[in-house]
Amino acid sequence: MKKIKKAVIPAAGLGTRFLPATKAMPKEMLPIIDKPTIQYIVEEAIESGIEDLIIVTGKGKRAIEDHFDNAFELEYRLMDAEKLDLLTEVQRSSSIDIHYIRQKEPKGLGHAIWCARRFIDDEPFAVLLGDDIVVAEEPCLKQLMTHYEETNASVIGVQKVPEHQTHRYGIIDYAEQMGRLYEVNRFIEKPKQGSAPSNLAIMGRYILKPEIFDYLDMQEKGAGGEIQLTDAIQKMNEIDSVYAYNFEGTRYDVGEKLGFILTSIQFALHNEELRDSVIQGLKEILDEETIYMLS
Ligand code: UTP
Repeated sequence: MKKIKKAVIPAAGLGTRFLPATKAMPKEMLPIIDKPTIQYIVEEAIESGIEDLIIVTGKGKRAIEDHFDNAFELEYRLMDAEKLDLLTEVQRSSSIDIHYIRQKEPKGLGHAIWCARRFIDDEPFAVLLGDDIVVAEEPCLKQLMTHYEETNASVIGVQKVPEHQTHRYGIIDYAEQMGRLYEVNRFIEKPKQGSAPSNLAIMGRYILKPEIFDYLDMQEKGAGGEIQLTDAIQKMNEIDSVYAYNFEGTRYDVGEKLGFILTSIQFALHNEELRDSVIQGLKEILDEETIYMLS
């Protein structure tokens, strides 16, 4: 069985949910506290043992390439000023080989992955989406890799979502459950409200066998007129079993405004330097709001 060494991070979407901030700045560069969301994802890939990363970018995404480049002048100045903690942080983002490929038009997630087919060749590979940050004792991607090694099948990361939210996600209809691992009957992208067969939703982490490209090659459009990765996974599942794994850890949805704001607050509360002042600041804001609402 081939080891998972390569990962794809698609980052060529338009980021419409964050307009106008994303008109000239990639959504993936929006920071949670002081770290761009894409860096959390790159760090998870590194901690999971990924050796080669490819980021699929598009128009207006140069800031991502600049971010992961070496910054000699900045590093020199930090060293000179003996700001070694900051130096380590700055160097952390340039410690892995990252390759870039462009998706010329944002035709959907499935199309973005298809753009990386020559880089992947005929190896199994990982996909990580920047919309979900996962905090877990064992990195989320590593958990999926372990189950890929056990099953020798593609494994898709899922977690439970409230039933009223299932229409926003790719949902699984499962046949059999073995602990946290599920044998899947069907993968359905954004089922109509009230029609989802379960509340287990695909969460932006995938281990895929290279056969997925046979199905992405068809370039069929699905929900929203986009080429959907979930549809290709479902087609592959009809021939070669695909599993879902309900991974352990807390998942933070940073792909939409409310999730982004709440994640920023939670990460600040978990940050020793910020925690007390943030609690104090939040109390003052809430007191003021209560007075305003009562008046
Ligand atoms: P999203 O749908 O969450 O990202 O796609 P988006 O399209 O940028 O955001 P909204 O919905 O307009 O606000 C999930 C991931 O897939 C990438 C995105 O960059 C994001 O990281 N993606 C999506 C592509 O790379 N290409 C596409 O054509 C679509």
